[in-house]
Amino acid sequence: MNTGLLHLHNILRWVILITLLLSIYKLFVKQDALKTSKILFIASHTTLLIGLYQYFVSSLLGFKAIQTAGMKTVMGDSVSRFWGMEHAFTMIIAIILITIGHIRYKKSGKAGLTPVLYLLALVFILLMTPWPFKAGVGRPWFPGM
Ligand code: HEM
Repeated sequence: MNTGLLHLHNILRWVILITLLLSIYKLFVKQDALKTSKILFIASHTTLLIGLYQYFVSSLLGFKAIQTAGMKTVMGDSVSRFWGMEHAFTMIIAIILITIGHIRYKKSGKAGLTPVLYLLALVFILLMTPWPFKAGVGRPWFPGM
């Protein structure tokens, strides 16, 4: 089950990126972005739930690393710090921005600040995704590749 969830967490990244880009585009050109924004909202919250489960339950790189090695050791090593802190923390901020952006847009029906919040979320997600080319923490583009 844990492997399946990690695979889902991996794939949902693409759903988030595509719907985030589409929503930003539609909001900037003043098209109806409610559907793409809703898919983005659902995909990011599912990713958050799976991420929290991985972080606290299934992964040795999340909270367990802090429990066993200690905060000082985790913070002192770039790979441990990425998984124990940076990835989870930054992605949670990105998902909060998506949540605020989606709710504001849904309630007002106007773009308002939403495209800006989405752009910020996009930057955070791009920076903290374990892309295959990222030294030490790289993971596959798709599960098993
Ligand atoms: C937009 C949000 C997120 C994206 C795009 C994302 C993306 C990814 C990707 C691509 C992987 C590698 C999957 C693989 O090895 O096939 C990963 C792993 C992981 N993510 Fe996320 N993630 C997000 C949010 C989160 C959050 C909020 C948490 C924790 C609260 C989290 C915790 C983890 C953990 C612990 C792993 C590694 C598990 C392991 O290999 O032991 N992620 N994430």
